[in-house]
Amino acid sequence: MTERPIRLFHISDIHFGLEDARAIRWAQDAVADERPDAVIITGDLTMRARSREFTAACHWIQALDVPVSVEVGNHDIPYFNLYERFFAPYRRFRAIEHLVEAEIDLPGLAIVPLKTTTRAQWQRFPWSNGWVTAAALQQTLTAIDALPAGTRALVACHHPLPERREKDGKLLTINGDHAMAALAGRNVLAVLSGHIHDPFDLTAQTEQGPLRMIGAGTLSRRIRSTPPSFNELVVIGDTVRVTARNLEQVHTADMQIPALPENALPPREPGEPVAPVAHVPAVDPPVH
Ligand SMILES: [Fe+2]
Ligand SMILES: [Fe+2]
Repeated sequence: MTERPIRLFHISDIHFGLEDARAIRWAQDAVADERPDAVIITGDLTMRARSREFTAACHWIQALDVPVSVEVGNHDIPYFNLYERFFAPYRRFRAIEHLVEAEIDLPGLAIVPLKTTTRAQWQRFPWSNGWVTAAALQQTLTAIDALPAGTRALVACHHPLPERREKDGKLLTINGDHAMAALAGRNVLAVLSGHIHDPFDLTAQTEQGPLRMIGAGTLSRRIRSTPPSFNELVVIGDTVRVTARNLEQVHTADMQIPALPENALPPREPGEPVAPVAHVPAVDPPVH
């Protein structure tokens, strides 16, 4: 085990097609200037999984000159082209195929992907929420169990894993609780996710012990209650320090929401979790 701090940038929900041009340039410059040990992108690269959005996303990601792992978000699966959705869902990722769901091995630490995006969910509609299939979970657990003894893991996925919303038990991620318990029983420092467009740093209690959940905000104009941001993670031994970096100099504690909402829509019901900075837009920007 090394004592050298490992610095990671955890970026999510860039949503090319509705990206924040200033925010993505700022994040790209930060990667070039500071050269983190790796960049982890937890999904929703695009807004509508259109070819021109993927071209822009792949171009941006390929310019990052450090190790990168990319998870797939629900917005990255072609929605209108059902043939592609079912038979070649990742075709448009071709230029960065080698980075998709890629494990990154750092000294004493591994970034291990977990797929939470599915092509179809027969149980319900819409398909935007998470689903940890038995096969996807097994793949992640096998990868963790194959790590050299003492290696710590950060698990990267798109959807936060809690199965049900705290306030009313609404279904969020199918099979999430089982997955969380399985990860808590292993040497997992935290689960990194995106999808809800506000940062958070929460600890869930599972049957197998506590599990830390770290969420990154968005670099898009589709903000929920915080300005565009990404997370800087510094890992020293078993400690993970999180900073929710943003262009507005908002302190991390004021960027983080206290509970998980259902999705990335701006809060529309009383009681929806809002970060202390409360940058809540009245409406979502239109998508063309
Ligand atoms: Fe998103
Ligand atoms: Fe999403």
